[in-house]
Amino acid sequence: IPREAEVRRLIAVHADMPGGLMPLLHAIQDTCGFVPPDAVPLIAKGMNLSRAEVHGVITYYHHFRSTPPGRHVVHICRAEACRSCGSEALMQHAQAVMGCAEHTTRADGVVTLESAYCLGLCASAPSVQIDDRVHARMTPAKLDKLLKQLEV
Ligand code: FES
Repeated sequence: IPREAEVRRLIAVHADMPGGLMPLLHAIQDTCGFVPPDAVPLIAKGMNLSRAEVHGVITYYHHFRSTPPGRHVVHICRAEACRSCGSEALMQHAQAVMGCAEHTTRADGVVTLESAYCLGLCASAPSVQIDDRVHARMTPAKLDKLLKQLEV
C-alpha cells in the first residue's frame, strides 16, 4: 500500500463516522492518487463492512480508480451545460489524440483520461480540467495545444 501510514491514519479517523466510507475513499484517493486494492481489506475491517461491500462502492462510483493515475490527468466535463456545447465531441477527440479510452491510463503511464460532472464553469462551457487547472471554452484545437505543452 503506498503511503500506508497515512492510509491507516485516514481509516482510523473515519472508522466511527456514520456514512464514513465515501469520505474515506475520497481521502485515500486524494492521498494515493487511487484506492489501492490491497487497502480494501483494511478499509473493510476499519469500517466494519465486508470486502465485497467496499469493492462494490469503489467499482460503482466512476470517480474511484483502482490503479495509479498517469503523470497527468485530463478530465472532460460531460455534465449538461458542457454536453450542450460539444463536450461529447471533445471527449472523442481527446480519446483519439491521447490514445486512451475514457477512465483509463495510456500504456506509457503518461496520461489518464476521465469524465467530470461539472467543473463549476458552466457559463463558459465546455470545460476541461488538466491536473489542477480548469480551462473554459475548450475546443479540440485548444486541447491539442495544452496537451502538447505537457508533452502528452
Ligand atoms: Fe461543465 Fe458545469 S456542466 S462546467
